Amino acid sequence: MNLREDNISEETKKLISSLPSDKDAQGKLCKYQGCWYYYNTLQAVINFQENFQPQNTDIVLASFPKSGTTWLKALSVALLERSKHDDPLTHPLLSDNPHGIVPFFEIDMYLKSSTPDLTKFSSSSPRLFSTHMPLHTLKEGLKDSPFKIVYLCRNAKDALISRWYFRCKYQKNEVARSILESMFESFCSGVGFYGPIWDHALSYWRGSLENPKNVLFMRYEELKTEPCAQLKRLAEFLGCPFTKEEEESGMVEKILELCSLDNLSGLEVNKTGKTWMNVDHNSYFRKGEVGDWKNYLTLEMENKIDMIIEEKLKGSDLKF
Ligand code: A3P
Repeated sequence: MNLREDNISEETKKLISSLPSDKDAQGKLCKYQGCWYYYNTLQAVINFQENFQPQNTDIVLASFPKSGTTWLKALSVALLERSKHDDPLTHPLLSDNPHGIVPFFEIDMYLKSSTPDLTKFSSSSPRLFSTHMPLHTLKEGLKDSPFKIVYLCRNAKDALISRWYFRCKYQKNEVARSILESMFESFCSGVGFYGPIWDHALSYWRGSLENPKNVLFMRYEELKTEPCAQLKRLAEFLGCPFTKEEEESGMVEKILELCSLDNLSGLEVNKTGKTWMNVDHNSYFRKGEVGDWKNYLTLEMENKIDMIIEEKLKGSDLKF
């Protein structure tokens, strides 16, 4: 049996047969609530929507894959945990990868089980989760709780190049141009895991405009160019703003240093560890640059993506 079809309930199989479907090099995909999933991830999304019991203080970190999720997780953990870890050696980020600390609903928790054990979160308030689902799908699982969601958006071309490298590393393939070319076509057609990227970003963009107290829209590029201001913005939103004393003592800079790509990627746990899905922790860290796509996409590819995205975002103020 195709690995991606394990653990699919009869009800979900019936649902899948009624959905638009397609496939890529990694498996069969179907489009549920406007977003493409592999079958096993769809089952996890449904498990989440049906079974998750939200708490009023829950925080969800959301993103399109390869948009800097690892960084956002690290920064959020560091912000929320900062009062508990005077001794830097006991900081959770030093002994676990950010994805081990902040699990994904649909690619960790509800993929393993339809009713995952959440007791490890019971002592932590707020509980911190993450997802790559679009906002409308996520909201079904959060029911009517006064959730807080942070969305990290990244330039689509950089997210594509990052995914290319990540996929080749995960599949132990050479980073071949032919793989990029086929991923480029899927990316542009919108048919690909969690695609289309424009609908994904738009769901959170609109959510942040309608409900700014609950949905914060952040950008990878702004985190790179104005890290202090963006970290303070994140802290305010999460309900843990920096005090004057903290700012004066250099706490903002300390958190940025702790969570920097150089520091995280140099930690033993990230050099040698793996996730439960057997993904090397080090594959979450590469260059971390803005505009790296310029090294790989032809002018024709650039124009094609730009035109599609401009067309798809028409009528919104969103640009990325
Ligand atoms: P590149 O492949 O462009 O280098 P995700 O965390 O969503 O999987 O995204 C991975 C991307 O975020 C990779 O981009 C990775 O290098 C970058 N990244 C990971 N940790 C980072 C950090 N601490 N600071 C900045 N960028 C980071």
